[in-house]
Amino acid sequence: MERTVGIDAIGVHVPGYTLPLDDLARARGVPVEKVRIGLGAHEMAVAPPWEDAVTLGANAALRLLADGSLAAEEVGLLLVATETAVDHAKPVGIFLHELLGLPASCRTVELKHACYGGTAGLVLAASWLRSGEAGGRKALVVATDIARYEVGSSAEFTQGAGAAALAVAEAPRLLALDPASGVYARNVYDFWRPLDRREALVDGKFSVDCYLDALDGALADWRTRGGTAADLTTAVAALLYHTPFPKMAQKAHARLVAHELARLGHSEVDVDAEAARSFAALVEPSLGVSRLVGNTYTASLYLCLAWLLEREGRRLEGRRLGLFSYGSGCCAEFFTARPVPGSAARAARIGAQALLQARRLLTVPEYEEFARAGAGAERPAEGGAGFCHLAGIEDHKRRYARSWEAA
Ligand code: HMG
Repeated sequence: MERTVGIDAIGVHVPGYTLPLDDLARARGVPVEKVRIGLGAHEMAVAPPWEDAVTLGANAALRLLADGSLAAEEVGLLLVATETAVDHAKPVGIFLHELLGLPASCRTVELKHACYGGTAGLVLAASWLRSGEAGGRKALVVATDIARYEVGSSAEFTQGAGAAALAVAEAPRLLALDPASGVYARNVYDFWRPLDRREALVDGKFSVDCYLDALDGALADWRTRGGTAADLTTAVAALLYHTPFPKMAQKAHARLVAHELARLGHSEVDVDAEAARSFAALVEPSLGVSRLVGNTYTASLYLCLAWLLEREGRRLEGRRLGLFSYGSGCCAEFFTARPVPGSAARAARIGAQALLQARRLLTVPEYEEFARAGAGAERPAEGGAGFCHLAGIEDHKRRYARSWEAA
């Protein structure tokens, strides 16, 4: 019999600073409505110099250890997905391995495929569990990133930073994954970051087209691999999309609706009206975090999931969710999952909303100062006991500390 595997618990982290995008729009001479309505974005998280992919990921995972959702000694596989790693050879995961106190027998790997890496980690962890190799242990999948574009570029409004840590287990207490999954991969130059650059390069409009084509491809593959033949907009209680900016999820939803109407032969139905009708019920509830945090690359889809389950877990228990993951370059995947009965109380403890409420608003000059500074070892002006931060870089070696330790 197929083992039931999925997400047992989710920990999230976002930096303690946020920039209102109305202020950035005014500073750049861009109409406020273009960002607020055209992109659907309101604020973006800004990583201070003492936060990087390691600290974001560690702080997300430490929440799972701190609230008892996961014990370090249970973890047999650590997969860290990031496209903003801190070293070309030394993986982010090995820093996390130490900071989280994971066992020496825990296999530790960094994964990269742009924003798709988090989903790659989740499906590989699920396969490891289904194969029986886990032997009762759990996997920890950490998706962690800082989205950076050139200051003053049109993509500047789609930056952000954050991390999600997923404890993946048999008989999960949060979300059971359905076995069917549809994949689409194709070599395209829509978004890239050469090895010597901190900021990403992007062919913005082309990247939107690549994302939408990949959605079509992943849905078509999903149907050949056991995905339901029913209309997806009625078969699921929510649809979550990789969200570089909220308007992208709206475009994706319109494409999914068009895909379904064409497949079911409803050529007479107005696609835009139909998409607008189902968007509010199926998609909007997961987007609040993206509007306030921005793009978090690998973590984006899982922050949306955490936000949705934390706020609407009771309504969604036992009902199916559809999830679409896209990574530029590109690789995409569509799959479904169900919040398990009894999961709502657990989901309500995720704490994403409290994290967002505790952030300090930055001014545009303060944000520009952080952007210029790059990684540094200043003492953090945020974080409670146990907060993990970058404590120093000497001889190209990074040193991390928790807030009760001397830097
Ligand atoms: P842009 O040139 O700033 O904006 O680029 P635009 O001219 O396309 O306008 C954006 C929207 O605002 C349009 O709406 C305008 O009509 C509207 P749409 O037609 O698309 O529905 N607009 C207004 N609305 C109200 N009032 C106004 C007004 N003016 C215009 N006054 C772009 C936007 C997203 C391309 C840019 O920000 C960018 O390049 N961002 C980065 C790339 C990106 O996020 N791509 C998304 C797909 S690829 C992906 O998701 C992968 C990624 O996460 C990376 C990874 O995988 O690792 C990026």
